[in-house]
Amino acid sequence: MKKNFLNLGKQPLANSFLSSNTKKNLSKEFFYNLRVAFDTDSYLVSVAKPVNPKLQYTDKYAHRASESITMRNAFSKIAKKLDNRFDPKIVMEIGSNDGVFIRNFNKRKIIAVEPCKNLADLTKQKYKTYPNFWTISLAKKIFLNSKKADIIFSANTISHIPDLAQTFDAINLSLSANGVLVIEDPSLLSVVKNNSYDQFYDEHVYVFSAIAISNVVKNSNLRLFDTEKIDTHGGSMRYYICKNNAKYKKTKNLIKIINEEKKANLNKFKTYEKFSKRVISSKYKLLKILKKIKKKNKKIISYGATYKSSTVFNYCNIGKKYIQYVTDTTINKQGKFTPGKHIPIISPDVGMNDTVDYAFLGAWNFKKEILKKEKKFIKRGGKFITHVPYPRIISK
Ligand code: TMP
Repeated sequence: MKKNFLNLGKQPLANSFLSSNTKKNLSKEFFYNLRVAFDTDSYLVSVAKPVNPKLQYTDKYAHRASESITMRNAFSKIAKKLDNRFDPKIVMEIGSNDGVFIRNFNKRKIIAVEPCKNLADLTKQKYKTYPNFWTISLAKKIFLNSKKADIIFSANTISHIPDLAQTFDAINLSLSANGVLVIEDPSLLSVVKNNSYDQFYDEHVYVFSAIAISNVVKNSNLRLFDTEKIDTHGGSMRYYICKNNAKYKKTKNLIKIINEEKKANLNKFKTYEKFSKRVISSKYKLLKILKKIKKKNKKIISYGATYKSSTVFNYCNIGKKYIQYVTDTTINKQGKFTPGKHIPIISPDVGMNDTVDYAFLGAWNFKKEILKKEKKFIKRGGKFITHVPYPRIISK
């Protein structure tokens, strides 16, 4: 049974940046109610009423996975690791974005699936790319008369697909006998520990735990045999999944992580009720900090036009009154306006100038990379603000 535990209010699509802030354009903006639920049978945590994916993954999809050095390095590292551990002949990626993972492989090995046409266009010249949503019929089309995949990789994508049963059935159909599905998604354990409620937004239909994943894949005759904690996206998990009859044994690391999740009571509803209370308190603490700074007439901007900051700004009602503009390195976000709160987005080359006193870390998951890059800002007394794991001004 699904039980709601968190209400993040009226939210826009977090990756739908507005090209103009005219009244006419704003009146067409799509909003939905973001409520988060816990399933007392499978222990899955999900958005209570997911948005139709056709509204989200369009030919205007803005997110480019290769925008950050951290992500480029992480994908190159995992590509090498999978090559060494499994020696795959055929590698498929579901949600290949701008090709940041597949570019580490020989093109003959690769099949890419990417429903956003603008992104599929970026990889189709070099790699076999299907500009489609991942479904049973696509799996049949790709694999009915050709060799099955030895590795199916999918980072930050499976958690975006509402129909998990079809997704995993289609994966079972596409894997070779000892093929391995490797998925990476934000970790529920990290979300609960870091109070990072901004991991919930329209595209994160699910925030997985190892406990929930191992339950859900069973329905498609698959099993979870290994898990790794990874740093990306503010604390993620990598899951290794195979067919029931494949040769892999359950690893010690998987047992350890499941025990850790049980110790944190991720399989109990009361954990989420407490989490929800902490989220409300985080909202008021962050607003208090911003109000105090504004009273002193200081300039606050936001760093990184992220999906996370979209959830935070819309939930906490933080708009232009507090945040003058947002900086982002992604060219096609620049010149646009943030979803819901319509804060202008500009290039950091222009925006990170000497007039900025405070920068809210919208991209807090890249804190290390950003603090390294912004030494000059910090040296001249500029300060970052974060809400993770609790709202505060970062003093160094
Ligand atoms: P993500 O958290 O959704 O992956 O998006 C990160 C966003 O932050 C992306 O639009 C790029 C932007 N960004 C910057 O503007 N500057 C930076 O230094 C980093 C690391 C990211």
